[in-house]
Amino acid sequence: MRLIVATRNRDKLKEIKTLLKDLPLKVISLNNFSSAPEVRENGRTLESNAIKKAVQISKFLKTLAVADDSGLEIEALGNKPGVYSARFSGKGATYKSNNEKVLRLLQDIPLSKRKACFRCVIAVADKGKLIGAAEGKIKGRITQRPLGNTGFGYDPIFIPNGYKKTFAQLGINRKNKISHRSKALVKAKKVIEEYVLTF
Ligand code: IMP
Repeated sequence: MRLIVATRNRDKLKEIKTLLKDLPLKVISLNNFSSAPEVRENGRTLESNAIKKAVQISKFLKTLAVADDSGLEIEALGNKPGVYSARFSGKGATYKSNNEKVLRLLQDIPLSKRKACFRCVIAVADKGKLIGAAEGKIKGRITQRPLGNTGFGYDPIFIPNGYKKTFAQLGINRKNKISHRSKALVKAKKVIEEYVLTF
């Protein structure tokens, strides 16, 4: 049985494929299906976007699919950017411009008030039917400047609680042990395993 990862984001895909590697399924990227539709992420929650992507892609490809929607919530910004994390700095946003915007908005905020939380929802669907959804989160704080060069997105400006280094300094193996995405995927894997057992 094959499992499609319903994302075209190569950075997320790399993490998801690593975290799913022990499943007894052939994990395939959406990038192998150029005819698959672009799913508009216009939901107001991570959960609704993840479910929409998993359901639509699994329906189109008539198979099992997982989708991720994730974002960074910053307490001092009223939990923004949240579901709008990818496009926080507007049209043509890049990881760098998004990080710059966060640091600019927080420039007068002291370290003790730079609390943040990464959230990830993973949805699982088969041939258009939702099987389940799981959430993972990790709390931390925002740095005063970007540090480190591994990972992606907001990794260079996020230090998880209990650590002194950003996700981008910790490196992908250590990030994958504690991240919001790995926590959501541990739960999603159970959903997939139980579902596959019913065949
Ligand atoms: P979306 O889930 O495709 O809407 O995009 C989520 C956005 O949140 C990404 O483009 C990143 O900017 C950010 N993001 C999500 N997960 C992570 C992560 O693990 N590290 C850093 N940034 C992340």
